[in-house]
Amino acid sequence: MEASFQQADRSHPLSLTPGYILPVEKRPLLSQVSSSTSIPIIDMRDELHVVDKISKACEEYGFFQIINHGIPPELCRRMMAVLSEFFHLPPEERARFCTDDPRCPVKVYHPYLGTGQDGEKVTMWSEYLSHPCHPLDGILHLLPDKPVQYREVVVAYAKEMGGLVKRLLGLISKGLGLESNYLNERLKQHKRILQANYYPTCPQPDLTLGLPVHTDLGVLTILQQSQGVTGLHVIKDGNWMYVDPIPDAFVINVGDQLQVMSNGRYKSVHHRAVINKSMARLSIATFYRPEPDVMIGPIEELVDDQHPALYQNYRFEEFFKEFLRQEGSRRRVKEVFELRH
Ligand code: OGA
Ligand code: NI
Repeated sequence: MEASFQQADRSHPLSLTPGYILPVEKRPLLSQVSSSTSIPIIDMRDELHVVDKISKACEEYGFFQIINHGIPPELCRRMMAVLSEFFHLPPEERARFCTDDPRCPVKVYHPYLGTGQDGEKVTMWSEYLSHPCHPLDGILHLLPDKPVQYREVVVAYAKEMGGLVKRLLGLISKGLGLESNYLNERLKQHKRILQANYYPTCPQPDLTLGLPVHTDLGVLTILQQSQGVTGLHVIKDGNWMYVDPIPDAFVINVGDQLQVMSNGRYKSVHHRAVINKSMARLSIATFYRPEPDVMIGPIEELVDDQHPALYQNYRFEEFFKEFLRQEGSRRRVKEVFELRH
């Protein structure tokens, strides 16, 4: 798998190797993606409106971008730079982190999609590096040591992302009509995972995908993306739309756990990543996830006669197990925990 990806990346063949070609019905139909609509852009300095704007965005789009968020742009650029260096290391170096063991905390991975025909897999045109970034105690020595600045930069970046997600959860709590510390208290036991997605250029982007259609498993995702190249698509009213990269902005999206906790008011929305011919793209996701034992379910204050609970209560671990079980398919994990009325 590693070998053919590298070969394809380096030599830019005129056609993809078969293991990367999606069946016709799963291809992205790039000409039909709308660039006339977009997800809301929210100024974090707009104190008067920020709570309402975030709440509305979570209800209508499940996605928004934030600007003027206070994270030093220089740190974000350094983070992009070290990760770009990482993905340009020789394949043997990156392969040290390749593993299929879901318990392994640090890994390099090639996402895939099962096609449903004889368990056949199609590999996505991407590679990712993933590892916890909070807590980091006890695993720092397992993180990549090349490039040499990697660990230092990731520690600083993870700290900033921690502050940002806390602030966002405060604003989201208020938007739900709860005390501002509600979600942070309720989700005190959490971890954050960093996932850096690398999408090399591709000779025939219409035959493949970078990441298959999915929703994010956790509570909230913060995404930093390369400038000058689009790739993230979000679904809105049945149509795909681009998410334009804006300088120094972050894309924020609602994950499955927040949809459940908000009792369906906030939407964990389908999205995908596509690739392009001329420019490689890199995105850095920070996923905020509950610890395995944390109980998740519709927040009691949001449930009443008019708004009956749409989901059962479960331990996050149960959800995660179901998520792993559906690996490779177009997952329907939340649906398993729905209550029927
Ligand atoms: C993800 C994701 C989108 C992107 O990592 O879950 O949706 O643009 N990434 O890389
Ligand atoms: Ni995602």
